[in-house]
Amino acid sequence: MPVETLSEVQPITIAKEQPNFVRTPHIKEIIDRALLYINVGFPIHFSSPAGTGKTTLAAYIAANLEQPVILIHGDDEFSTSDLVGGEHGFRRKKTVDNFIHSVLKTDEKVQADWIDNRLTVACKHGFTLLYDEFTRSRPEANNVLLSVLEERLLDLPAARGEDAYLKVHPNFKAIFTSNPEEYAGVYKAQDALKDRMITIKLGHYDRDTEIVITCAKAGVKEKRR
Ligand SMILES: Nc1ncnc2c1ncn2[C@@H]1O[C@H](COP(=O)(O)OP(=O)(O)O)[C@@H](O)[C@H]1O
Ligand SMILES: [Mg+2]
Repeated sequence: MPVETLSEVQPITIAKEQPNFVRTPHIKEIIDRALLYINVGFPIHFSSPAGTGKTTLAAYIAANLEQPVILIHGDDEFSTSDLVGGEHGFRRKKTVDNFIHSVLKTDEKVQADWIDNRLTVACKHGFTLLYDEFTRSRPEANNVLLSVLEERLLDLPAARGEDAYLKVHPNFKAIFTSNPEEYAGVYKAQDALKDRMITIKLGHYDRDTEIVITCAKAGVKEKRR
């Protein structure tokens, strides 16, 4: 019987050309600043209230880094294994030796299959991690990120076999977003994690940017007075 292997999480590719994306001088300034940090190896974090464009900006920047993207949306039910991986399914191997008809020897081995989850895949292959609304996950679940961002080392359970410590690929980049003003369904980000990323606070866009975005969304031309 063929052995069915569960496949690894696949990255996504975000199109670099986003026709409806608006780049006013204000937005360009934020993008340039973010790219400056991320290109010298710092993880970045867009922090702003709902609807101020942090996910859109994060996706645009991820697309501009021109490498595959692993997307995670913060979730209260996440545990460490939802980020790094775990044992899913079993592999059973049975050997029946009846070479001498009066002797029956059986040897059975059951082994759990380890499947890498999103963070491990991104660290292993050097993808861009886009962790949207990371404060919706419990801080305990995000603890595994501390060594990834600081020591560039991912601690994995021994059950994974091969490497219990995975050296983070040099191309690995991380972009986080969070909403510090949300009053429900979020946790306070732990200082240790915030300390390891460059937080860019976004406010509401300036008037011109808001007008250009509204026109782009509505498909109308701005009437200049
Ligand atoms: N630079 C931009 N160009 C075009 N649309 C934008 C831009 N920034 C934000 N938007 C639009 O504004 C809305 C809110 O943006 P979003 O990224 O979802 O905000 P947040 O993640 O902060 O809640 C979306 O409809 C998005 O398409
Ligand atoms: Mg968002």
